[in-house]
Amino acid sequence: MPNKDTGHSTGHLIIGGCDTLDLAMRFGTPLHVLDEMRIRSACRAYRQAASAHFGPLARVVYASKALCTTAVLRIVASEGLGVDVVSGGELHTALCARVRPADIVFHGNNKTPRELAEALSAGVGRIVVDNEEELTRLASLCAEHGTETDILLRIKPGVSAHTHEYVRTGAIDSKFGVALETGEAERLLIRAASVPGIRLRGIHCHIGSQIFGPDSFVEAARIMTGFMADLSERDGILLTELNLGGGYGVRYVDEDTPDAPEDVFRPVAASIREICENRAFPFPAICLEPGRAIVAEAGTTLYTVGSVKHIPGVRTYVAVDGGMFENPRYALYGSAYEIVRADDPNAVRTDPVTIAGKCCESGDLIQEHIPMPPLGTGDILAVMSTGAYHYSMASNYNRNARPAVVLCREGRAVEIVRRESYEDLVRNDCIPEGL
Ligand code: LLP
Repeated sequence: MPNKDTGHSTGHLIIGGCDTLDLAMRFGTPLHVLDEMRIRSACRAYRQAASAHFGPLARVVYASKALCTTAVLRIVASEGLGVDVVSGGELHTALCARVRPADIVFHGNNKTPRELAEALSAGVGRIVVDNEEELTRLASLCAEHGTETDILLRIKPGVSAHTHEYVRTGAIDSKFGVALETGEAERLLIRAASVPGIRLRGIHCHIGSQIFGPDSFVEAARIMTGFMADLSERDGILLTELNLGGGYGVRYVDEDTPDAPEDVFRPVAASIREICENRAFPFPAICLEPGRAIVAEAGTTLYTVGSVKHIPGVRTYVAVDGGMFENPRYALYGSAYEIVRADDPNAVRTDPVTIAGKCCESGDLIQEHIPMPPLGTGDILAVMSTGAYHYSMASNYNRNARPAVVLCREGRAVEIVRRESYEDLVRNDCIPEGL
């Protein structure tokens, strides 16, 4: 089970040495709580496994879409990871965090001309080109800026990973990248290899997210490496970099069985090595882009129970002070979570309840039919493994303020994102004259 330490004397849920009931009192709820050392140890585990299996040229780049705040990017950069960004806003955050531009990888299936120009001015390390129009746009921007840029091309390797269809991205029916099967990828790479201003370094794929077991990753690596060897033999294009994306599964509930990074990287590296040896192709520099696996299990969301509504013969709703505005994942994907009472995480679970949010939608639920101990107004609930794709997917729906994010380490808690205020909510509203 993720993260369920309890205090020796109180029995309360403890995160990074901090008592969660104290955190709820001090910072209010809903509250995102991050355990700094868990982020750091995930970074270290991925880096060590990457260099052990892929050699000294391997790079681990944190997919910042999972959780993009200045402090979090400082932490991952201080652990030697690069940062993957997918918008001008994420790029800006990475630059504010003083991530070295050379360590930034810029992604996206429809980067705007402004975002491409910003990436060029910042001097990001790699731009991952998604399609032909983007290549053309980037080349003309390079000419305009009098600069050159290093690129990878995003490929759909035709792998269908076993995960939720909304987060599956490697098959031909995907809006990301260009297809292998149709020959489109090869044609575009031949073109990219001779476009002035463009330095073609390699190819990228990302097959999906929350994937367990090494098989889909091994298949993608095999296809991508084989394709690199084909290009070299058929077209004389020698690519030296292979970015295999992210997607490593984490534990939300006990049934999830995440793999240690080395258990995925070992077979992936073996399959790449085998192809390289068979086809006399040089082992490429490998880049990995974990997002969820770096931050998910380091995060917990605290809520206060407002009301409990028993509907005889139907179900019991337990309403909390958050909801789909700060956790849209149940509404979107039906995601499962472990939820505990923060004052007694091991309390005996009795009746199944539905944890509901406070938004004006019936689908605004955090979890349905989950056995919980008795609950009443004022209880603090902790939803586990909420570090990834929660704060980063939050909105102001119903003009709810986004929660604060606090970072805990050795019993000290510091705010790394302030809770939004009502002023924040109306900051960008304009009242035209005469209204
Ligand atoms: N690289 C690329 C190009 C990606 O598109 C993604 C995720 C990653 C790396 C990181 O994948 P990870 O290691 O975090 O699985 N909102 C969804 C997840 C969307 C993932 C999008 N791309 C969720 O809440 O489950």
